Amino acid sequence: MNYYLRMKEKFENLRQKKDVLILAVESSCDETSIAIVRNGRDVLSNVISSQIEIHRRFGGVVPEVASRNHVLAISNVFEDAIKEAGIKKEDIDAVAVTYGAGLMGALLVGVNFAKGLAYSLDVPLIQVSHVHGHIAANYISHKSLIPPFMCLMVSGGHTALLNVEDYNKMSMLGSTVDDAVGEAFDKVARVLGLPYPGGPEIEKVAQGGEKTYNFSVSKSLNKTYNFSFSGIKTEVVNLVHNKKQKNEEIDVKNIAFSFQDCVTDELCSKASRAIKNYNAKKLVVAGGVGANTMLKNKLSKMCDDCSVQFYAPILKYCTDNAGMIASMAYFMMKDGLGLARLDLTAKPNVELR
Ligand code: KG4
Ligand code: ZN
Repeated sequence: MNYYLRMKEKFENLRQKKDVLILAVESSCDETSIAIVRNGRDVLSNVISSQIEIHRRFGGVVPEVASRNHVLAISNVFEDAIKEAGIKKEDIDAVAVTYGAGLMGALLVGVNFAKGLAYSLDVPLIQVSHVHGHIAANYISHKSLIPPFMCLMVSGGHTALLNVEDYNKMSMLGSTVDDAVGEAFDKVARVLGLPYPGGPEIEKVAQGGEKTYNFSVSKSLNKTYNFSFSGIKTEVVNLVHNKKQKNEEIDVKNIAFSFQDCVTDELCSKASRAIKNYNAKKLVVAGGVGANTMLKNKLSKMCDDCSVQFYAPILKYCTDNAGMIASMAYFMMKDGLGLARLDLTAKPNVELR
């Protein structure tokens, strides 16, 4: 029997198994991560080797450099993840991997490592979308969280409102028509002379600032659940360039604060409308920008005001990690979804649905 046919049977059996250990591989951007998670909720290990320091000197992620560093790191990350979990390789029931969205070369390193591992252990391979993984970061952060809920996805590559009806059933109410919110944070940080990645840096300097600029987002999308952040980004870029031309001081703290305040207001107001119109009882934030304290405070207050429960991933699961991929893989497996063949390849873009 060939690998896939054998795995179909094993995959089907896993759905009934009491304790399922999934090892996941994540390499979509500049973090090489391998995690081992039991039953989609208990993280036994979640090893992350970050390349941030390497890419910082370039002001952003250089794809080719990222791929090479994944190759260098992945075997050690794997050994560490096994050791930290205190298990034997043979205990692993399935291997999961981020197959997209992300950087093609970076993803390929993880996909091929995962394929080799799944084949050698003779266990099923599960393909997971990175964005769905970000949602699952909440399942490992909050053990009792179950769908349905409204999800505000705020990552470096996506910004969307998703009505999550079940683990594997969701519909997108709206998304960004241009820049993702994380991308806007990164670009604004860059023009302000702050290092990569920009989001946490903006948050840091904004702590000493106040709202002295009235930035705005496009009103034309007000009646939709779509977002646009390229306008405000350009507004900040133009402001900074004008000031530089006039030899004026760049008011980094106040610009950062005013930008962050405007963007988080917009996210909060659209999430609030979605909650009310869909009568949601829970709001879940997902993705790297979910680490932002001002955003979490605004969402939390808004949820309190309308008796909705608010969830955000614990900080270490906000940005890229394999724990969230292992969790998502478990809930896919439970619904019989995601079993991959050995010709699985990476996809730079995966449709968010
Ligand atoms: O969700 P993520 O891993 O990106 C994608 O999967 O695309 O998160 C990375 C993004 C970056 O744009 C980073 O600047 C942003 O999340 N980010 C933040 C914060 N921490 C990370 N943005 C605002 N405030 C933060 N504290
Ligand atoms: Zn991510």
